Amino acid sequence: MDILVVGGGGREHAIIWSLARSPKAGKIYCAPGNAGIAQLAECVPIGVFEFDKLTAFAKEREVGLVVIGPDDPLAAGIVDAFEAQGIPVFGPRKNAAEIEGSKTFMKDLLHKYSIPTARYEKFSDYEPALAYLRSQELPIVIKADGLAAGKGVTVAYSREEAEKALQDIMVDKVFGDAGTQVVIEEFLAGQEMSILAFVDGETVRPMAAAQDHKPVFDGDKGPNTGGMGTYSPLPHIGESVIREAVETIIEPAAKAMVAEGRPFSGVLFAGLMISPDGKPKTIEFNARFGDPETQVVLPRLKSDLLEIFLAVTEGRLAEIPIEWSDEAAVCVVLASEGYPGPYPKGVPISGLDEEGAALVFHAGTARGADGSWVTSGGRVLGVVGRGATIAEARTAAYAGAEKITFAGKQNRSDIAMKALI
Ligand code: AMP
Ligand code: GLY
Repeated sequence: MDILVVGGGGREHAIIWSLARSPKAGKIYCAPGNAGIAQLAECVPIGVFEFDKLTAFAKEREVGLVVIGPDDPLAAGIVDAFEAQGIPVFGPRKNAAEIEGSKTFMKDLLHKYSIPTARYEKFSDYEPALAYLRSQELPIVIKADGLAAGKGVTVAYSREEAEKALQDIMVDKVFGDAGTQVVIEEFLAGQEMSILAFVDGETVRPMAAAQDHKPVFDGDKGPNTGGMGTYSPLPHIGESVIREAVETIIEPAAKAMVAEGRPFSGVLFAGLMISPDGKPKTIEFNARFGDPETQVVLPRLKSDLLEIFLAVTEGRLAEIPIEWSDEAAVCVVLASEGYPGPYPKGVPISGLDEEGAALVFHAGTARGADGSWVTSGGRVLGVVGRGATIAEARTAAYAGAEKITFAGKQNRSDIAMKALI
């Protein structure tokens, strides 16, 4: 069966790497893809919002399945566009993707169905929002309602910071329409965890749990990024906490979506905070695979990813076996100088073609005029090490990361350390 994957980052590279191992997989196309993905798939220069071109391409090539990677086209209704043409597609429809696309929708849903999350209020006018903000204790969290490329959330430790965040969103409209509404919520202390799950309607099949590192610098310092590294499993967070998160958060959320007439189909990804006494609460839901969570989760999948995608799209997820390996995986992201701020592109990369034990997923690479590798994004590469333990996987990931060099390369040196102390 031929497949079209929509997207072009490290997550899509990992999805394609996993799909390519399926005996059922025929030719794989990726729109738009990237230079690393081009080693496994035929990249087609169609953007993720060009729904007419994407559906026409899928029809013309008679692809048997389309897989959507990123959040914005899901929120814009890309799945509905493929379904309208009768093309099988893996991902949630627009009305289900709203669980990620609108924080007020998500918070109201959790509140209505008594699913654990931080206490919150939502506002569409600045003055009452400011008055409420001033009545709350610090730290406090301010969130733009819509998708803001991971930058719409401020955890404020001072009044000044809190009021600036509110002003940015509601008065100066730095996130445009994504800031028409704002959520002000209670600060949750603890450890963050990501649980991704395959979901079709009420059936929830959790994947291996992972932990991301969002701030750019070691020790969780500096501004937030899309994610600087991940690891899986989480030996320091017990299986019982993970089970509780699935039973009290993800399963009820899937049921709630069905009850609301917005059944979810695809990957539901819960961003959770585990309190110091071991209780999970929801920070956010995403309607897709995480990036770079996918880069450590899929290498641990022993079952056939294509079979799982087909089972979800055909509504028979409950019937298939899904097995995970006990092996650990650690992903270290190599980023461009200046990321998450402005960064240069076209910087030559060396060491990428060397054989090594690590898996390398490309996020932002391109080929220079002479065919050599150059950078083309903020996050450039994700280097994944595997081993019997987190410590072994971590050593393998950093050994792989060291072999690759480019001017201004930056990476965190403490990925997965939380599991080892
Ligand atoms: P989000 O985009 O909602 O995932 O938020 C980005 C980051 O902000 C999260 O990964 C957390 O580190 C942090 N965050 C969001 N909400 C809260 C909260 N209520 N309490 C503490 N930290 C939070
Ligand atoms: N790594 C976090 C995300 O994909 O949203």
